[in-house]
Amino acid sequence: MSFPITRMRRLRHNPVLRAMVTETKVTTDDLIMPLFVCPGKGVKNPIVSMPGNYQLSIDLLIEECKSLMDVGIRAIILFGIPEEKDDTGMIAAHDDAIIPQAIEALKKNVPGMFVIADVCNCEYTTHGHCGVIVDGDVDNDKTFDSLVAQSITFARHGVDMVAPSDMMDGRVLRIREGLDAAGYTELPIMAYSAKYASGFYGPFRDAADSAPQFGDRSSYQMNPPNSNEAMREIELDIFEGADIVMVKPALSYLDIIRRAKDRFDLPIAAYNVSGEFSMVKAAAEKGWIDEDRVTKEILTSIKRAGADIILTYHAKHFAEKLK
Ligand code: PBG
Repeated sequence: MSFPITRMRRLRHNPVLRAMVTETKVTTDDLIMPLFVCPGKGVKNPIVSMPGNYQLSIDLLIEECKSLMDVGIRAIILFGIPEEKDDTGMIAAHDDAIIPQAIEALKKNVPGMFVIADVCNCEYTTHGHCGVIVDGDVDNDKTFDSLVAQSITFARHGVDMVAPSDMMDGRVLRIREGLDAAGYTELPIMAYSAKYASGFYGPFRDAADSAPQFGDRSSYQMNPPNSNEAMREIELDIFEGADIVMVKPALSYLDIIRRAKDRFDLPIAAYNVSGEFSMVKAAAEKGWIDEDRVTKEILTSIKRAGADIILTYHAKHFAEKLK
């Protein structure tokens, strides 16, 4: 049937009907808020390039998580700013390291919060790369030790899910084997599976003090023009035991999210990364866009593309004002 029998505008005039036929609705259940935790007490360092985000010491991290719970955000992902760095990242796996301590404090003080830990080395290595350096490049297999050790330590301190973001081949399998051998057979893994070497991580690297000191990450993160390769990465992570797979960044990769959703039957996560967030903030500050409206549109687009889960710095704002 076509015009004049069919008129698409009939379903758009009345706001109640419009709401009734809305196909995609973002809810607070879909969202994970990234948080940065640092040593000390009473520390709240603003991250200049990411307005409204802070490096928080554990005491203030607890307060922030309570206020997130109050608005309905029940999942966070933690990134650590350590006191000291080393050349392998193994320092992150000590029981008294920043992330294990933060996990333990959160599980004790905000028990309803689902605590995810990013597992990677770039925040913890002196050179800022995601793995162990051999001959000027990141060595794949030598990087497993610290990733597995971090995962097991985080598990021992009560983490609810681990999320490896390093992009080494085979790390999901090694982490799964390590967790299982240590008795954590029920701990899920959310793998950063299709993670691209992206310019959109710029603000995060300031926030987490994790910029590579030489070269870039293109020998391990994916080449942005590639799409079939993303399907291979995701498929391999599924075979290795990933429970949730992730596409990152989100907005320039909505096509990848959609392909993954159509092809695979496990939950798809998408990371709405720092640069994507900062662009909205900067344009809003200049009065060039309506921040509330654009934020809602962005999160809706990521879900409409096929993401079941969205990691986003907009999570609290969405929960407070936009849902
Ligand atoms: C660590 C990691 C990064 C991000 C998440 N985990 C940075 C990177 O790969 O350089 C980026 C998150 C963001 O930009 O919001 N490997």
